[in-house]
Amino acid sequence: MSLVGTIERINGSLVVARFEKEPKIGDLVEVGDLRLMGEIVRLSEKTAYIQCYETTSGLRPGEPVLDTGKPLVAELGPGLMGTIVDGVERSEVKLWEIAGPFVTRGIHIPPLDREKRWSFEPKAKPGDRVVEGDIIGVVQETPYFQHRILVPLGVRGVIESVERGDFTVEETVATLRTPWGERRELRMMQTWPVRRPRPYKERLPLEKPLITGQRVIDTFFPVAKGGAACIPGGFGTGKTVMLQQISKWADADVIVLIGCGERGNEMADVVTHFPELTDPRTGRRLIERTVIIANVSNMPVSAREASIYMGVTLAEYYRDQGYDVAVMADSTSRWAEALRDLSGRLEEIPAERGFPAYLADRIAEIYERAGRVITLGSGKRVGSVTILGAVSPPGGDFSEPVTTHTLRFVGAFWALDTELAFRRHFPAINWLRSFTRYLDVASRWWSQYERDWERLRERALGLLEEASEIEETARIIGEKALPDEQRLVLLIAEMIREGFLVQNAFHEVDTYCEAEKQARMLRALMEFYDRVEPLVRKGIPIERIRELPIIPELMRLKERRGLDPIEEVLREMEKQVRKLEEEYEEVCR
Ligand SMILES: Nc1ncnc2c1ncn2[C@@H]1O[C@H](COP(=O)(O)OP(=O)(O)O)[C@@H](O)[C@H]1O
Ligand SMILES: [Mg+2]
Repeated sequence: MSLVGTIERINGSLVVARFEKEPKIGDLVEVGDLRLMGEIVRLSEKTAYIQCYETTSGLRPGEPVLDTGKPLVAELGPGLMGTIVDGVERSEVKLWEIAGPFVTRGIHIPPLDREKRWSFEPKAKPGDRVVEGDIIGVVQETPYFQHRILVPLGVRGVIESVERGDFTVEETVATLRTPWGERRELRMMQTWPVRRPRPYKERLPLEKPLITGQRVIDTFFPVAKGGAACIPGGFGTGKTVMLQQISKWADADVIVLIGCGERGNEMADVVTHFPELTDPRTGRRLIERTVIIANVSNMPVSAREASIYMGVTLAEYYRDQGYDVAVMADSTSRWAEALRDLSGRLEEIPAERGFPAYLADRIAEIYERAGRVITLGSGKRVGSVTILGAVSPPGGDFSEPVTTHTLRFVGAFWALDTELAFRRHFPAINWLRSFTRYLDVASRWWSQYERDWERLRERALGLLEEASEIEETARIIGEKALPDEQRLVLLIAEMIREGFLVQNAFHEVDTYCEAEKQARMLRALMEFYDRVEPLVRKGIPIERIRELPIIPELMRLKERRGLDPIEEVLREMEKQVRKLEEEYEEVCR
């Protein structure tokens, strides 16, 4: 039963209300005459502390508060894909239609369209024994994506009837008889409390990398499907571009993009441009496999706090259907700030930099929802959720709490570097400060293209590290004073940097680099090094190597389509190097 309370005081997004009976923590409430959305975040007997998801100005003490008796839930079912919802799952498009860019408060619209009919195709038949998580039918949610309708949690029994045809999400598509003799109607729509992880049968070891087509990630700091990565970086270092590139290109079945809006117009930009993008592999519109959660409207920070949980819940729901899902959160710092803001208003004792002491636990709870699992259901359906979270530390200082705590709970760390961004080295991932714990998973997968993958990668990283040490010395004594072997290391490092790590998101070809091409490009660069290194040792001056016309060709491979140019360039390299050798043989004799 729902309870009624009265507003006592208002402090920004925090509303304190007094109830006649004790409500429950986590309950969703409607606040004031405007019926604004809020959630009970703390209780002290009959006094409830409410985090309000809408601007509270104009609310007055004495106005009523209605406890719905239910937690904040996500509505799950066909109609999510291709839509843009806010942190409490209201359709942004509908909000705009109703109220324009300055959303009127207190609008209640159900996330899933109640009118729209979906063509339901049964996969179960009368007499089938089903358990929670089993597929009873499918719906072509978008031309690209098949939505699988599952038996809800806690339900099992024998199917009595199942319909084929067009239904709304609330209509009955099947009925079953439970072991206790009850009749249950099954619909396409379900709900789930966003703050609770959805259950699964079994957690599985990670097996494959998420291939993003971004060389520095896939080759040097891969993330596993079902793993988690943190992308910290100051303002303008490329977090948003990176996450958009991954949403576009990653080999995931479903993308959930959570925009906690760093700049006001940034999300508006995503919302207007994303729907126009085409999926390069299917030729279809990318939005057909994407759910966007964006607080574009004038909702206060507190609404961002919920959006991460909303996003992860939607991701788990698609995982449970047997899909690989990737969640991008941009940026989790905004989420943490909402947490801090609320904690301050609750007058909790602050820990580091004003964040509450439970910040680390909350971050852990989010990233723990990543994983590869056997889903509920009778079969052995496998799905995964990969979580990629951007962090925007103030002043690019990675020692702040959100970055340091996130670092503990993720397997890959892509450190974006202000200096690299300033030099327009994009993606500005600092190869000395980044790491991955998914190397084993990645090596196994990459060996299909390159038996020596792990060694190649290690050598390339080793050369980059060596080069940065040599550069230190060069700064003091000048590059020309270095031995030629060291100058060659600088040369190859430059080739790896410019010809491999730097990748232009806006270049027609370079924007995506298929895995096989990445492996062949890296091998080509290392072959070049192996070919010329003995010559330098024998005394051929580094200047002569530097002059080889093949060097710019090697560095431009990234802009050329396919694999053929790589072989071509390698043949040409051999010719040029041999010519140099011949020239010096004569000199030596
Ligand atoms: N991979 C890339 N290729 C080309 N330019 C990039 C790339 N990544 C970032 N940029 C440039 O950097 C700018 C800022 O990136 P953005 O993602 O908005 O930074 P952040 O979200 O970290 O503030 C972009 O507008 C773009 O010009
Ligand atoms: Mg950004």
